Amino acid sequence: MKTSIALIGFGTVGSALYERILNLPQYEISGVAVKHPEKHKDRLPEVLMRKSAEALIARPETEVILEAIDDSDAALEFAVKALEAGKTYITASKKMVASNLGLLHRLEETYDGNLLYEAAVGGAVPILRTLREHLAAEPVKRVRGILNGTCNYILTQMQEAGADFDTSLKEAQLKGYAETDASSDIDALDTYYKSLIIARTLSGTTPELARVVYEGIRDVAAADVAKVRKEGGKVKLIADIQREGDKFKIDIRPTAVTPDDPLHNVDGSSNAVTIEGVHSGTITLQGLGAGGHPTASAMVGDLMNIPAPKLEKVKKMLTALR
Ligand code: HSE
Repeated sequence: MKTSIALIGFGTVGSALYERILNLPQYEISGVAVKHPEKHKDRLPEVLMRKSAEALIARPETEVILEAIDDSDAALEFAVKALEAGKTYITASKKMVASNLGLLHRLEETYDGNLLYEAAVGGAVPILRTLREHLAAEPVKRVRGILNGTCNYILTQMQEAGADFDTSLKEAQLKGYAETDASSDIDALDTYYKSLIIARTLSGTTPELARVVYEGIRDVAAADVAKVRKEGGKVKLIADIQREGDKFKIDIRPTAVTPDDPLHNVDGSSNAVTIEGVHSGTITLQGLGAGGHPTASAMVGDLMNIPAPKLEKVKKMLTALR
């Protein structure tokens, strides 16, 4: 039996998801919720278009919801509805997840639903599952990373092409990396949400924060970039997440990165993390951190990794309802 999927949103990420799922015979898309159906007439069959995401989530045959919208309040409403119905909700919305970690995980446990959000941190770079599963036995002390594709793209353009800040930001927006409100990228709030989700993954519960500092790249001048470049370094927006006893410290700021740092050659819209374990040594993961297809990769990866016992339970429940 095919797994029935509801898609919410048909922007850069939503349309990439649609394309990818069409090529996977084990899934079928039962509907795509879009705010403005007329905008998508050329790319989306009318029979699949739905105005109401709530109705699509509530349909008994809907088993999994993949949401790709940039309205975190609406995303939270949809996630709550899906989890309360014991369904699987897959999202890339770091703001929605980071701001409601406690509530969402309580709902997940109470109703036996699944909330999956690998794509919320690092796009296609498999950060969360690596920490949670592959490094489950490893006491991880520290994660350092480049977690915002827009900032890294801008800083790389300034570094390599001597480009100015505003032109590079416009390019990042055109390429679909930036948030609708790009201040969230350049003032580092987006990186803060992602860091918080990493701390949550490390702690296994809502993390207690000993200290949080975040400073974006708005004030990085071309002269600063040139000076660091002359010394052989690169300016990067680095997030540093460290354990301090039972608590976590999050420190995000533009940093001069030296050539011996694994994050030195992470350029363009790429993201990367270095994970420092007690026994594992330093592990570095790098890949594309923003854009439609990299984000869709992580979301479809979540879809293919829905915890099996729960999925079986939901399937039985839905069959009983039909
Ligand atoms: N605006 C984000 C970025 C998108 O530039 O990294 C991916 O989370």
